[in-house]
Amino acid sequence: MIEISKEKEIVQLLNKWKDRLEIVLSERLPFSDTIPNHLHKAIRYSTLNGGKRIRGLLVYATGFLFGAEEKLLDIPACAIEAIQSFSLIHDDLPALDNDDVRRGKPSCHLAFDEATAILAGDALQMFAFEELSKSNHSAEQRLHMIRILAENSGSLGMIGGGAIELQMSGKVASLKELEKLHWLKCGKLIHASVLLGAYGATIPNQTILAKLKMFAYNLGVAYQISNDLLDGLGASVFLKKNPKSDQAAGRTTFFTAVKIDKAKQHMIDLFDASVAALDGLEKAEPLRQIALQIKGRSLSVF
Ligand code: IPE
Ligand code: MG
Repeated sequence: MIEISKEKEIVQLLNKWKDRLEIVLSERLPFSDTIPNHLHKAIRYSTLNGGKRIRGLLVYATGFLFGAEEKLLDIPACAIEAIQSFSLIHDDLPALDNDDVRRGKPSCHLAFDEATAILAGDALQMFAFEELSKSNHSAEQRLHMIRILAENSGSLGMIGGGAIELQMSGKVASLKELEKLHWLKCGKLIHASVLLGAYGATIPNQTILAKLKMFAYNLGVAYQISNDLLDGLGASVFLKKNPKSDQAAGRTTFFTAVKIDKAKQHMIDLFDASVAALDGLEKAEPLRQIALQIKGRSLSVF
């Protein structure tokens, strides 16, 4: 059990990283008056709009574990948040989830138009890789980070998860199938976040990486179950989007496919396993605190 005063310090550290990331992202994304203005306005509208920055924070928290300077973590944190923003812009499009609200505001394709939203997502992906390619790391670290982000975002990662979700829509799914979906759809980017923090800091040791993978797997799947349950329970205040949009889109989720008590217990077990995976790691308090905060937020609606 961590002391209260220590916990307060860690919460302050996470808040400091979040503020830092907002500034860095805002400075690094092209400004709204840069031509093509309309595209850059859409990119900034969708990216600088009060996201929780879980993935960016995971980069800083993992870098902290390896003793990295914050400034070495800024670009990997921006890159993962750019990929996250791209994925949400495209996820909300009429052809995918057809969601009108994102982070409490009209989705990008409604605030702008569908074509601009597609292009904004495309450009954000390119931004992420361009940023990593020109960061102030060794060539070896940059190559690792670029590969990590590509592998975990692509057709064998988050985007593949989106494709499997479409195929699965309206069908019965087992807990195992749903868990695999959630690992791809959400867990892979969480995994990429901790790996970016690790490689942004150093060329990490494989034993530590194995623990971090366990942490990311369990946290990623738990986080997506939480997202499913909050959506299904209509907890729009937490999600800052329209409730029950998964059902409106016909998605098979932990809410539709598994009894709520069982889904909730599975989610709690996974959150606890993510925290347990950090046992024996020094300087892991910020990572532990991130998992505990997401767990707390997920449980507050039950
Ligand atoms: C988000 O998935 C998109 C990806 C991870 C590819 P969801 O559709 O489940 O998330 P929300 O509910 O729109 O945020
Ligand atoms: Mg969605």
